[in-house]
Amino acid sequence: MQIIKHTGRLKLVLSRYRKQGATIGFIPTMGALHPGHLSLIKQSVITDDITVSSIYVNPTQFDDKSDLKNYPRNFKSDYALLKSEECTIVFSPDNKEMYPRPDNRRFNFGRMGDVMEGKMRPGHFNGVAQIVTKLFDAVQPHRAYFGKKDFQQLAIIQKLVNDYDIEIVACPIIREKDGLAMSSRNSLLSDQERNDAPAIYRTLLLVKEKFRNRNVKEAEKFVEARINKYTSLKLEYFQIVNSITLDPVDEIASTIPLTACIAVYAGSVRLIDNIDIFS
Ligand code: PAF
Repeated sequence: MQIIKHTGRLKLVLSRYRKQGATIGFIPTMGALHPGHLSLIKQSVITDDITVSSIYVNPTQFDDKSDLKNYPRNFKSDYALLKSEECTIVFSPDNKEMYPRPDNRRFNFGRMGDVMEGKMRPGHFNGVAQIVTKLFDAVQPHRAYFGKKDFQQLAIIQKLVNDYDIEIVACPIIREKDGLAMSSRNSLLSDQERNDAPAIYRTLLLVKEKFRNRNVKEAEKFVEARINKYTSLKLEYFQIVNSITLDPVDEIASTIPLTACIAVYAGSVRLIDNIDIFS
């Protein structure tokens, strides 16, 4: 496995592979890798000739500076995990490499960018789009792999790649045995928060089971009461949206695909999850 820190070198190495006709799969990450990330790497190793992963904690997508400071960083163990999965190249640039000058680009995602994460974390998706476009330009992959846990990010990136010839591969959420969606942030949970956090997925399962053909308001009340009864949990938002447009809906009717999305604070750690209501 090659570790590359500069975009120029990355482009050169990949152009050689491309000339040989190799297909390139790409998994962008912010490190602190867990089995969810590794499932994306595995998928690319099976599908593509070359697998490139990036490790870069992108400052422009953090609206909260203390969240950026506390974001877990484990470069050494990340490299070891990527090597054991037979990743071909790791790209791990520093801030000067990715932002030699401020990036003033402003992306417009339409209504899709204004709900849920877009509403709660102003500027977050603009920062994601800045770094993902820089990384796509550097790697020029045939396929890029993203997890469905970041459901809205996935929809926004799918919109973004209309300008690129890249296939976006959406991969299933990987969960702990107790249902908690795997996330780099889980390592920041206290014992009490970790004990309470599986209630998030259990609540989503109950919504899926009990609220078909009912009003979203009823589901919202149910979710708020269930989550907030745990001392360490605080609901930030629960929303049911059209799975394609991300427009919020009022009725849980099976005429369109719907996804229930949730963000919860476990102490100071923000966790997100989602479930497809009709699958
Ligand atoms: O999902 C993530 O880890 C990040 O948002 C991404 C796509 C690597 C961009 O920094």
